[in-house]
Amino acid sequence: APRVLSGIQPTADSFHLGNYLGALRQWVALQETSDAFYCVVDLHAITVAQDPAVLRHRTRVSAAQLLALGIDTDRATLFVQSQVPEHAQLAWVLNCITGFGEAGRMTQFKDKASRQGSDRASVGLFTYPVLQAADILLYQADQVPVGEDQRQHLELTRDLAGRFNTTYGPTFTVPSPHIVSGAKILDLQDPTSKMSKSASSPAGIVDLLDEPAVSAKKIRSAVTDTGREVRFDPQEKAGVSNLLTIHSALSGRPVAELELEYAGRGYGDLKKDVAAVLTDFTTPLRAAVDGYLADPAQLDAILAEGAERARTVASATLAATFDRVGFLPRV
Ligand code: TYM
Repeated sequence: APRVLSGIQPTADSFHLGNYLGALRQWVALQETSDAFYCVVDLHAITVAQDPAVLRHRTRVSAAQLLALGIDTDRATLFVQSQVPEHAQLAWVLNCITGFGEAGRMTQFKDKASRQGSDRASVGLFTYPVLQAADILLYQADQVPVGEDQRQHLELTRDLAGRFNTTYGPTFTVPSPHIVSGAKILDLQDPTSKMSKSASSPAGIVDLLDEPAVSAKKIRSAVTDTGREVRFDPQEKAGVSNLLTIHSALSGRPVAELELEYAGRGYGDLKKDVAAVLTDFTTPLRAAVDGYLADPAQLDAILAEGAERARTVASATLAATFDRVGFLPRV
């Protein structure tokens, strides 16, 4: 079976619809057909300042959401990045074959650093994509299910894998991105940019754990255009198209069928129905998340077992890598 790896940051109290439709939906699907490793990336989270107690809570909330969404630990390995020390160890080696300019060209780094100011942005933020490459290469992943915004980081991962293999001999599988169409969910208030926990206002983000009344209000207030026609046209009708993408993904109905259904009806009807399909999806999800969070010791035990399984794969790759670069064997 192909090997799959992906990760998500524990940097919010809830995942949002972009995370789910862009990536997590694929995580659940791919565990059926592949040997999947899914990781809550707390090392990545601290590249920007985090309150320790909040981070600890959000790491558990993240794991609880993944389980509630259907990640099944009999099929997939679910773990927390900091519990597998090989991630940081391989990242060091990869840092040493990454060009300074190459890292500096990463657009997510440039965006985040310019938002924070270059004196306040951490070196960790700069080398973030190299740690991401380590996450992927440690597991010899063939496929990496992510949203469109991660494309450049995966390109860097492929470059680093190829460079290492050429320099030291074949060591890493060169991974392919697994990016589905519609893998970019837009900010409801600003449908020219992606829905993003770091950049969007709360009104622009639909959180999976929002109360139904809260998400219904956000969808009702979504920015559309001055026309009346419900039509999928990302150029001219970015807001309406985003709502159609969301509806289609959650209801499983093709966009073309939805266009017919809303022909001659206004945006209000579409928004009402998007809120309804969303509530149908999130209501059982919220209950399941609460169930997992009610027993944090049990949750921690699930994650500890996942980390142990992950380490058996990660440690083998790291040992091979250390040997390739000329480190002494540990006897
Ligand atoms: P993160 O935590 O920002 O987001 C998790 C996943 O959600 C996707 N995503 C979106 N997809 C569609 N539309 C959106 N508006 C949207 N917003 C977020 C992201 O593409 C991602 O797949 N760097 C990664 C985490 C990471 C990782 C890895 C991913 C660390 N190591 C190894 C893959 C493999 C990130 O920040 O994701």
